Amino acid sequence: MDFTELVQTRRSVHEYSDQSIEEDTLQRIFKRTTLAPSGYNLQPWEFVALREEESKERLKEVAYNQDHVVEADTSVIVLGSTDLTRHSEAVFEDWLAKGYLPNNDVKESLINNVEKMNTMSKADKRTWTTRSTALAAMTLMFAAWDEGIASCPMEGFDSEALVETFDIPDEYEPVMLITLGYPAADTSDIENERKGRRPVDDVVHYESFDPSSETTLLDPSADN
Ligand SMILES: Cc1cc2nc3c(=O)[nH]c(=O)nc-3n(C[C@H](O)[C@H](O)[C@H](O)COP(=O)(O)O)c2cc1C
Repeated sequence: MDFTELVQTRRSVHEYSDQSIEEDTLQRIFKRTTLAPSGYNLQPWEFVALREEESKERLKEVAYNQDHVVEADTSVIVLGSTDLTRHSEAVFEDWLAKGYLPNNDVKESLINNVEKMNTMSKADKRTWTTRSTALAAMTLMFAAWDEGIASCPMEGFDSEALVETFDIPDEYEPVMLITLGYPAADTSDIENERKGRRPVDDVVHYESFDPSSETTLLDPSADN
């Protein structure tokens, strides 16, 4: 699918068909997801894909009983590592080997930088990991839709309960959930008029920032 069409037609979908996603297809989607950019290329993301009914039911319990978590073929828990150093050795070794760094000293100083950054507060580390992990989450949704697989990003879950239910180690921040599945033939999410969007003139600010005091919503499919 052409990128403009991909962006224009993606919707958050709640109703899914029974058609299951082939493993190969899921694999391709996740492969493209890993091409998302991240701070220092540290790739803090992890994806826990739940495909079994029983696992999705457990997820539903911590997701305020949102049904689409179970109706979707696959529900993904998107996690972000708050340990910045986790992959830094390997990542900077790759930079060195590929000529992005002039020598080993620069590699070592980058590793040290990341170690220093790793002493920031837990709150700052959560912000850090959420930036890159959210970009991967968006990439996942676009990669899925490119395969005809709809998605829904979700913040409606109890983070503490999720961590406990799925034994998520302390170092990982649950960033969001993403449901994945072929859309039901008659899903209202796709058939209904697209939800309004704040216009470009209200959200884009050149040279200085002067937020608009009123909210206007426009039909995003219209040429305005
Ligand atoms: C961070 C985030 C959290 C969201 N949480 C939920 C959620 O818990 N449940 C849900 O059904 N939809 C959720 N959504 C979907 C939004 O409602 C949806 O993206 C928005 O209404 C715009 O519709 P569209 O995605 O179809 O363009 C979430 C979206 C985002 C980006």
